[in-house]
Amino acid sequence: MRIGILTGGGDCPGLNAVIRSVVRTAATHHGSEVIGFRDGWRGLLEDRTTPLDVPAVDGLLTRGGTTLGSARVQPAKLHAGLGRMTGVLAAHDVDVLIPIGGEGTLTAAHLLSQAGVPVVGIPKTIDNDIDCTDLTLGFDTAVSIATDLIDRLHTTAESHQRVLLVEVMGRHAGWIALHAGLASGAHITLVPEEPFDVAEVAKIVEDRFARGDSHVIGVVAEGAHPLPDTMSVRDGGVDEFGHKRFTGVAQQLGEELERRTGKEVRTTVLGHVQRGGTPTSFDRVLATRFGLHATIAAHEGRHGQMVALRGTEIELVPLAQAVARLKTVTPSRLAETGAFTG
Ligand code: F6P
Repeated sequence: MRIGILTGGGDCPGLNAVIRSVVRTAATHHGSEVIGFRDGWRGLLEDRTTPLDVPAVDGLLTRGGTTLGSARVQPAKLHAGLGRMTGVLAAHDVDVLIPIGGEGTLTAAHLLSQAGVPVVGIPKTIDNDIDCTDLTLGFDTAVSIATDLIDRLHTTAESHQRVLLVEVMGRHAGWIALHAGLASGAHITLVPEEPFDVAEVAKIVEDRFARGDSHVIGVVAEGAHPLPDTMSVRDGGVDEFGHKRFTGVAQQLGEELERRTGKEVRTTVLGHVQRGGTPTSFDRVLATRFGLHATIAAHEGRHGQMVALRGTEIELVPLAQAVARLKTVTPSRLAETGAFTG
């Protein structure tokens, strides 16, 4: 068998570990070959490939990023390029394609699957917003990086009796903010799922200082937004992929809090540092298991599926189901966090 593999969308720690796992499982257990497409779907559209064998993936387990490169491609280009992509796969004798990606990549994978291409998807994104899997690859590392950095901000905030706002990634889903906030003992956690009331946030700040607290730490997901007509946030329009361009909600909230409370506020935007560097041991294990099970599914003819973590087991779920909606933070998870904030 010949397996094609690609990594699409924003990178995350653990992608290289998946590539290694697929190549090793295919070669060692099935005597199969793996060919990599460079830069996500773009490499498939433009027929840019790289052969992958066991020596080529040596040392990849711990390395961040993706050796195959990654890119975002506009959905319209993917739709228009469907015929081209199936042609390139046929020209390379690819029997099954294993795309590793987030919402955009897996939606494209579903499209190809509907067009008759045998596909097994692997969910990765630091945002953890893919449905039908308890966790996505890269999330644990991003949370661990964010938690470590927020821990450091606690000590400088208390030295200066300041409010420190930390903006973390999370476009539509606040999973990173929720987990890093809980893990680091943040006093305020704001997520896209629940618009915030700036008056309530200001009251938390005032109350904490009034009862003698030394500082306030707030974790703000980049996609968090205020309740209508409570505070204006600059509109950045949308980018070429139709994604909303963020304009720094934490910075703007900080300015508003300073105005309302008279307290000193500083803002730190963690940005792409959350996606860089070596994966945690958890993500290395998840990547290795995802790669193993996707390769087994490919050989067993269980296509149109995505590997998923359910409890402690890796299972297969239909791609159609996995991309039907985004997995956002639930009210019950917000309530749990609410018990430790405010
Ligand atoms: O989807 C993952 C993600 O890291 C989001 O959290 C973030 O909004 C986005 O990618 C950033 O994308 P880019 O790397 O293209 O700036």
